[in-house]
Amino acid sequence: MATIRYPQGNVLLRNLSRDYPVITGGRGVWLEDEDGRRYLDASGGAMVVSVGHGVGEIAEAVRDQLAQVGYVNGTQFTTRVTEELAEGLAALAPPGLDRAAFLGSGSEAVEAAVKFVRQLWVERGHPERSVFIARTPGYHGNTLYALSASARPHYRKFFDPLLTDVRMIEAPYGYRSPVDYETKGADHYAAALEREILAVGADRVAAFLFEPVIGSSAGASTPPPGYFEKVTAICRRHGILMIADEVLCGSGRTGEFFASKHYGLEPDLIVLGKGLNGGYAALSAVLVRSAHVEEMRRGSGYFMHAQTYLQAPCMTAAGLAVLRYMRKHDVLENARSSGAYLHERLRAEILPLAPVGNVAGLGCLAGVEFVADRATKRPFPRAEKRAEKLLATALENGLTLWPNVGQADGTNGDLVMLAPPLTITKDEVDELIARLKSAILKSFEI
Ligand SMILES: Cc1ncc(COP(=O)(O)O)c(C=O)c1O
Repeated sequence: MATIRYPQGNVLLRNLSRDYPVITGGRGVWLEDEDGRRYLDASGGAMVVSVGHGVGEIAEAVRDQLAQVGYVNGTQFTTRVTEELAEGLAALAPPGLDRAAFLGSGSEAVEAAVKFVRQLWVERGHPERSVFIARTPGYHGNTLYALSASARPHYRKFFDPLLTDVRMIEAPYGYRSPVDYETKGADHYAAALEREILAVGADRVAAFLFEPVIGSSAGASTPPPGYFEKVTAICRRHGILMIADEVLCGSGRTGEFFASKHYGLEPDLIVLGKGLNGGYAALSAVLVRSAHVEEMRRGSGYFMHAQTYLQAPCMTAAGLAVLRYMRKHDVLENARSSGAYLHERLRAEILPLAPVGNVAGLGCLAGVEFVADRATKRPFPRAEKRAEKLLATALENGLTLWPNVGQADGTNGDLVMLAPPLTITKDEVDELIARLKSAILKSFEI
């Protein structure tokens, strides 16, 4: 089999004890390797692939831009593709979020959002507002501040001395909620925010950072009814800014371009990444309000942040082409209908399987959580590496999945995420479910 395994080659592979198939092509939901083996990309890679693999018109749009100009310095120039992408996002965003800066990765955009908020408070004459509150479980990226804001012990374990203090509150994680989620969840989880704000001192808190729909950290958990109304009221009352991290759940993944829209949520900043470029180039964005930008203009006169690839047209051309493709082919409508069908099939075929404790999510985003005992929700011992084994079995079955571990108690817990291209058809959903079911049966030896 044509695979690469450490110590072959010169790439620093992420995992030093597994085989890496060499991918040569992709079409729609399918990937193909050098041996002609096909994989149904049920996780869209790292929940990135939004309009499918190998879309010719996106490749052409990017090629056209590269042939004109690939890079300009974003602190000196702008380009039409960058302007048009910002305009397109502003038209879709919750009211007031009408300015976008473009960077390369979700982590970078989270860092930029945090710096924007911090600078704004200093400009306003409130340098004491420097504390950020995030949630556990939750994930915001792998750079040092974004990791500080991430409650993922296994990602943090080597780096703790380098991380900084970000306050953590309990995230709304429906499956493991200590109260009845539907009726009491909003009060319970919103109270956690208020408690933390009061413990820190409201006038020291800069912003609350959260995922509107939690990604792999809590298996695509959606908030309980009324949660964001309550949380918004608390933040507004204490003058605390709200940063919605939609790196994973945004860009159409849940059936709305912005996941915040499901909840009537109007945050102060939104961070996008992953599906924004559909995998055609590295691209992330931070969206902010003109009203806040005006405050900066009247103060220092600029946002003190830039990186080499800020607003670079080689990246934004891909984002614009993906956005146009979504409009032209009504991709969001497909994400809603195929997403609803995916959840229907998951409930019918996957949820009844013995080790499956829960299925959650929205649109073309789903989490499947595994437990040793469904009655008590007891997780498998981490040493059994259930998620990793399932991932390997699924790959042998021609199916890609995205794993997460530790969500049950910080150490134990196994789940896999599904985030197929938003263009997936119902027949392809059937194929995905059949392959997933067979991989679960094989891997858990049922
Ligand atoms: C919610 C969320 N925020 C931020 C990030 C970081 O994005 P990136 O890996 O592109 O830096 C991720 C990545 O998984 C994410 O899921």
